Amino acid sequence: MSPENPFVPYLATVKNVVTLTPDIKLLGLELDDSIVRDNFSYKAGQFAVLSAFGVGEAPFCLASVSHPKGELEFAVRRIGTVTTSLQELEPEAAVGVRGPFGNYFPLDDNKGKDIFIIGGGIGMAPLRPVINTILRNRDDYGHLLIINGARTPQDLVFQAEFDIWASSPRTQLELTVDRGDDGWKGRVALVPAVIAELNPSPENTVAITCGPPIMIRFTLQELRRLGFQDNQIITTLEMKMKCGLGKCARCNVGDMYVCKDGPVFTCEQISKFIEQF
Ligand code: FES
Repeated sequence: MSPENPFVPYLATVKNVVTLTPDIKLLGLELDDSIVRDNFSYKAGQFAVLSAFGVGEAPFCLASVSHPKGELEFAVRRIGTVTTSLQELEPEAAVGVRGPFGNYFPLDDNKGKDIFIIGGGIGMAPLRPVINTILRNRDDYGHLLIINGARTPQDLVFQAEFDIWASSPRTQLELTVDRGDDGWKGRVALVPAVIAELNPSPENTVAITCGPPIMIRFTLQELRRLGFQDNQIITTLEMKMKCGLGKCARCNVGDMYVCKDGPVFTCEQISKFIEQF
C-alpha cells in the first residue's frame, strides 16, 4: 500500500477496457510510478480500492495474477455511480489505486491437492487468478474441476479464456446457466445441482467458491452433504464489502469485518453465519 499514507492512492493509467458481459467490464491498469509498479505484488483473493476521481471510490478484487510488469486487472460490474464512472473511463484516463489489501487464498498450503472451484457471475473475478495461478504451476496441483455458473449465457464472465482453461492438462470446466437462450447448447441448472450431478470426492481436495450469497449458501450445503469438511471449503466474501476501509461497518460477519479479517475465509470460520447469507 502507499508507504506514507494508505489513504492516498497511487496514480494509475487505464490501458485496456474490455466488455465481458452486458454489465461487466475488465479494466486493465498500469501504475504510473515504475518503482511502485515493480513493488506492487499481491496474491489471488486480495483486493484494491479504485478511485474514479471526482466521483468516489470502491473496493474490487484483483482479477489478474501478480506480475511486476503486468497490468492490474479488475472486473467492474455497473451497480452505482462509482462503477458506472469506472466503466466509462477511456484508455489513458487516470484512476487511483490503493492496496493491495486483505488476505488471500492459501494456494501454497494446498499444493498436491485436487482443487474444486465453484464460481457464480462476477464471483469468477477473484477465482480467475486462482485458476491461472494453478495453470501456470500445473505440476503443483492435482485435478482441477471448475464449475462456472451465470444467470444467462451472455453473463458468463471470462468466456475468452474458457478454451484455454478447458484444454489445460487435468482440468475440467463445467458451465451452467439459470436460463438458456436459442444458441445455448450447454447445461441449464443451478450450481448446487451441478455439484450434486458431478459428485466430486472430498478426498485430498479443497473447494474454493465465490458468487452471490445465495449461491454460496447452497453450495456450502451441497459440499457438506458430499462429505467436505468445513476446513476444506474456502470462500471469499468480498462481495459484502462496501468501503473496504473498515469504516462503514457494513461488511461484518459476526464480530469479524470482511475488509479487515478477510475477504478470504474457511467455511469453518464463518459456519455460524452461513444462514444469514
Ligand atoms: S467494507 Fe466498510 S467496514 Fe468493511
